[in-house]
Amino acid sequence: MSASSSASPRMTATALKAMKGASEPIVVVTAYDHPTARLADAAGVDAILVGDSLGMTVLGHESTLRVTMDDMVRATSAVSGAVSHALVIADMPFGSWQTSVEDGVRNAVRLVAEGGAQAVKIEGADAHTLEVITRVVDAGIPVMGHVGLTPQSVNAIGGYRTQGVDAESAMMVIEDAARVEEALAFSVVLECIPTEVADYITSDLEVPTIGIGAGGGCDGQVQVLHDVIGLTERMPRHAKRYADVAGEIERALAALADDIRARRFPTAEMSTPASKGLVREALDLRRALFAALEEIEDLER
Ligand code: KIV
Repeated sequence: MSASSSASPRMTATALKAMKGASEPIVVVTAYDHPTARLADAAGVDAILVGDSLGMTVLGHESTLRVTMDDMVRATSAVSGAVSHALVIADMPFGSWQTSVEDGVRNAVRLVAEGGAQAVKIEGADAHTLEVITRVVDAGIPVMGHVGLTPQSVNAIGGYRTQGVDAESAMMVIEDAARVEEALAFSVVLECIPTEVADYITSDLEVPTIGIGAGGGCDGQVQVLHDVIGLTERMPRHAKRYADVAGEIERALAALADDIRARRFPTAEMSTPASKGLVREALDLRRALFAALEEIEDLER
């Protein structure tokens, strides 16, 4: 049975890792709420990433930097409650591990214990981050790494630019991916790097690479749900729209507004008719109640 069949058992980090060995492309999408997570799971995706991209897609922020642990725990809890097959991975938001290794472990534990995540994702490959990855893995929580364009470092790298485009920076991305694997991550997201650099990393690592804007040669692909279903205004170059959900929502709401204004909504069938004489009886009761209250007031005067 294919690991991506919706009838198959619950995905795990180990099962996801094994898909590389079986040369099975890994399908990952983001979700941030119960209904879309249920639909993604029903569609048979292998993993759902509760990405900190929710800062932009759901909260309307300019970047991922203002996303908090509470935002992530709430979204992860909504997603994990809707999923029976896919592996649920929660992003560690900016500030949740940079302050100390202990904070990193504590916050990863929160995403599992309160949010119901089965794994967490951590951006970057500097020495501190690598130590956090290893300590979180030691705590029994599988970690997905993330190298190349790491959006939480937008202020340091000066914008959302493709990384690894010259030899020095390509070498750094290759090194970062190898270090993340050494730190015991079970897979690595490669974001916005040239195809050939991603292809090299994919052949170099034993753990699966999950690409976004990194060409078609990665072991799997991750896409932001809102891009795929047409809820994003500014589409990134690496995304493809498979549905026009924004258009459908606008059409449905305009049709509802027309029906309400023309008094076609709600219809009699959608409403509850009263039994005969109900309103008259209610008004009689009300009159009797007021009369009784007046009598009590008169007695008290
Ligand atoms: O937050 C997110 O959605 C991500 C993916 C783009 C990999 O990190």
